[in-house]
Amino acid sequence: MRAIILFDSKTAGGSTDRLIDSIGQELAKTGAYVEKARCKTNGDYSFLNDFNVVIMGAPIYYLLVSSQLLGALIQSNLKHYLTGKKIALFLTCGSPEVMANLLYLPQLKMNLTGNTILAEKIFAPQQLSDQTVIEKFVKEVNEAYKTEQD
Ligand SMILES: Cc1cc2nc3c(=O)[nH]c(=O)nc-3n(C[C@H](O)[C@H](O)[C@H](O)COP(=O)(O)O)c2cc1C
Repeated sequence: MRAIILFDSKTAGGSTDRLIDSIGQELAKTGAYVEKARCKTNGDYSFLNDFNVVIMGAPIYYLLVSSQLLGALIQSNLKHYLTGKKIALFLTCGSPEVMANLLYLPQLKMNLTGNTILAEKIFAPQQLSDQTVIEKFVKEVNEAYKTEQD
């Protein structure tokens, strides 16, 4: 697996930054090649050609997925370069999971209708540094990826 963690957060060194580092380390333990990249609304996403799995996520601020990721999906060539990629989604937020599933995840998924979603996870505040939860998410991504390869 060649995976890129594509993320956004307004907080440098915040909970999302720490979470993606943990996800990356866990994924690397499975033998995957992993890189991370911060989203920019008007970025050029042609570098996604080097990866077959995209792990994508961001925090929720004021009911919306963080703006650089959402903006990139709407305005940039990101969606074009996501064609054919397997995707795993994560969100960090303070809302209950049921609300996040209803209001927040669709903001990403409505832009990914042609993609295979390997796994999706809403990380509640207390789960952000819970290694067991992070390992479970990575295991789910890895197993779904292997199933897709078969
Ligand atoms: C300004 C601000 C607005 C937020 N708005 C929401 C929200 O509307 N819904 C929600 O579930 N969580 C909300 N949160 C919680 C964040 O999504 C959560 O704390 C996340 O882990 C922050 O990630 P970060 O540390 O990378 O910035 C908000 C947090 C901040 C600081």
